[in-house]
Amino acid sequence: MEDLTSPPRHAPEVKPATAVPDPNTAVWSRYWAQGALHSCATSYDGAYGGALAAFWRTQFVDLKPGQQVLDIATGNGALPQLLLQTMATTGFQCDAIDRAAIVPTWAAALPPTLRERLRFHAQIAAEQLPFADSRFDLVISQYGIEYAELPQALRELLRVLRPDGRVALVLHHAASRPALLARIELDHIGWLRAADGLLAAAADMVAPVVEAATAEGRARLSRSADAEALRQRFNAAQVALRQRLEARHDGADVLQEAQDATARVLQLAGTRGEAAARLALQRFHLALSDQQARLTGLCEHALDEPQVQQVGASLRAAGRAVNIAPLHEGPHLMGWSLVAAPQR
Ligand SMILES: C[S@@+](CC[C@H](N)C(=O)[O-])C[C@H]1O[C@@H](n2cnc3c(N)ncnc32)[C@H](O)[C@@H]1O
Repeated sequence: MEDLTSPPRHAPEVKPATAVPDPNTAVWSRYWAQGALHSCATSYDGAYGGALAAFWRTQFVDLKPGQQVLDIATGNGALPQLLLQTMATTGFQCDAIDRAAIVPTWAAALPPTLRERLRFHAQIAAEQLPFADSRFDLVISQYGIEYAELPQALRELLRVLRPDGRVALVLHHAASRPALLARIELDHIGWLRAADGLLAAAADMVAPVVEAATAEGRARLSRSADAEALRQRFNAAQVALRQRLEARHDGADVLQEAQDATARVLQLAGTRGEAAARLALQRFHLALSDQQARLTGLCEHALDEPQVQQVGASLRAAGRAVNIAPLHEGPHLMGWSLVAAPQR
């Protein structure tokens, strides 16, 4: 196995480890395999913008040539990308780890002089970092480290941090907009996937729609009370969907996607037959179930005030001056920012 304890010297590549991923890690691996740059891909433009990017630029600006950065729970590398964009001419090195399989394709497309600054390590847990003690000048994480077992991950963070090193974190906030949207979306997904939800009603419509492809089938359907009941059930689910869409604009993307997906499924049933339609429905179910797992994770790991203060206390106990503040993007609370630096 390669020695990860010495500074990187070569181009970025994603290094898989051998650990068997847990179900949540598999969910994230599937998410990153789709090529998203970050975890709010449908909610925000490109990379995280505005205030978040401004916060990070402030943290990056003091980096000196040769300094070592570690990004914990990097995903597809949104922060290393911002670091490169901000500090392209400073000769830093950045290692980035994530417990999931990650696919930062954008890094592979960089010119060699920039690419060699980054090294991504897939399937590496924050609780067990494969780096030497006191290696890093700056440890960063955006909506990442709080997903780990925090006491152990913080111990590891402090072990690999130089005595004069700094820490900068953006953490999920229990009352933030992403957490609020997650709760709304979870409610929608729960309904969509329930026994009386849209997807079950659409699944029951597949066979009648297939049958309706022929004149004989249509004649049979017109005489069938069961088929009429299924049609009415599907119509009622569509009405319920519209009511949800009208009730609340926030967090409604998933309803729109479900509306499009069920229309596609029934169109497939009419044109390509039952198997194609059921496969499409199954794929959409899996996508929703993955989204449910990610959003549940967000809600479970978002920190309230006492929890974030506990993170601060661990860093203070290690001799750091800690500054914790709510981070806003325009009117929206986006998370906690936490900065820890050596005491002067
Ligand atoms: C919300 S995403 C954030 C990704 C990235 N930092 C960003 O801003 O786009 C959370 C990430 O934490 C990773 N993760 C969860 N538990 C972890 C752990 N124990 N160690 C390392 N990474 C972990 C997940 O695989 C996922 O990629």
